[in-house]
Amino acid sequence: MNILSIIEHKANGDILTHEEIRYFIDHYVDGSIPDYQMASLLMAIKLKGMNAQETSDLTLAMVHSGETIDLSAIEGVKVDKHSTGGVGDKTSLVVGPLVASLGLKLAKMSGKGLGHTGGTIDKLESIPGLTTALTQAQFIQQVQTVGMAIIGQTKALVPADKLLYALRDVTGTVQSIPLIASSIMSKKIASGAQTILLDVKYGNGAFMKTIEDAKVLARAMVDIGKALGRDTRALLSDMNQPLGLAIGNRLEVKEAMATLKGQGPDDFTQLCVEAAAVIAIQAGLYSDLTVAKAAVTNQLQSGRALTIFNQFIHAQGGDLNAFNQPSLHHVDVVKPILATSSGIIHAVEALPLGLLSVDLGAGRLTKADVIDFNAGIVLHVKPGDTVQKGDTLCTLYTNKPWVASWETTAREAFHLQKKAYHAPHDAFIMIE
Ligand code: URA
Repeated sequence: MNILSIIEHKANGDILTHEEIRYFIDHYVDGSIPDYQMASLLMAIKLKGMNAQETSDLTLAMVHSGETIDLSAIEGVKVDKHSTGGVGDKTSLVVGPLVASLGLKLAKMSGKGLGHTGGTIDKLESIPGLTTALTQAQFIQQVQTVGMAIIGQTKALVPADKLLYALRDVTGTVQSIPLIASSIMSKKIASGAQTILLDVKYGNGAFMKTIEDAKVLARAMVDIGKALGRDTRALLSDMNQPLGLAIGNRLEVKEAMATLKGQGPDDFTQLCVEAAAVIAIQAGLYSDLTVAKAAVTNQLQSGRALTIFNQFIHAQGGDLNAFNQPSLHHVDVVKPILATSSGIIHAVEALPLGLLSVDLGAGRLTKADVIDFNAGIVLHVKPGDTVQKGDTLCTLYTNKPWVASWETTAREAFHLQKKAYHAPHDAFIMIE
């Protein structure tokens, strides 16, 4: 067997064997397959696809490229959730405390933001003192005692994904369902939880632009999880507009904390409650979604989930007193973007606002870019709202020298019409 014949098989549309898949992962990680050959194979996979067996074999080969976390020392049901990425997506900061407050154990490995989608690790590290670099022993101990812990991706866990993701990022091979599915599921399997909820986004601000593609990705990931003995479900939700009102690291942490006090935006609160309720059902706490959602809402309103959030931040070294000092959130430029006409908001596009937030300093375009935790955007209106000329659509926060085109970019993300707005009603779709 050699890499050339594997590339040719895939380029011809053949199904790769388990041995071929294991071969190219093992030899890429040990450095004997160079980037140019791997890039060629990735492109062949992107163009020709992979069937369910190949995708599952690829996931397992990636899991076996490094260590796995053994959570068996932790009592109770170990759960995990993972979002496929979006704009304003701070869901883990709320869903984690919600499920932990119900007695479940959230053991989660998260990523940093890249491109227009933010990352949980950056949001957490915007809290002074907080570290996401726990040892395995600290991670397990914290999940046991606090009910949740979130760590960054380590070198030891799924090194194949780290290498492949970096190569995909620069070779136009990110947008591939088997490659995304195996990338996400290898990390979920290696992290050890038995119960996994995938928060799959569709829309202009997501990897999957259509519901149909999101369903195919969700089905692929759920099938991999199930085949590997994990209770895996996926919840599809809309990422045509940003989630909640805040985009940008500290702005989003503040919104997550407000949501845990019952004061969050409706769309974000609803997604968090739905996701936590589904996890509670997966874990066997409830059998009925309405009952589960009522229980989760109670954890939000009673402040129990907020207490867990505070304990979790404290356990990872975060200083919420320092975070709550107004001076920490200072930016040089605060720019309200005003409506130039009156009407009803029909759409607030996530993608241009996500990209703008990166320009403002809230995200990174390359892994080496340094994030400004205070930069970002706060929306003042959402679809369905009526605005008058001169009303504020959103506020931009940055420490960078002001660029005039930012104002137009921000304003053009808001689509106003005179006719009535009808909200889409199938907000969440479940794949199980
Ligand atoms: N998130 C991941 O972890 N991997 C992908 O390939 C895409 C999104």
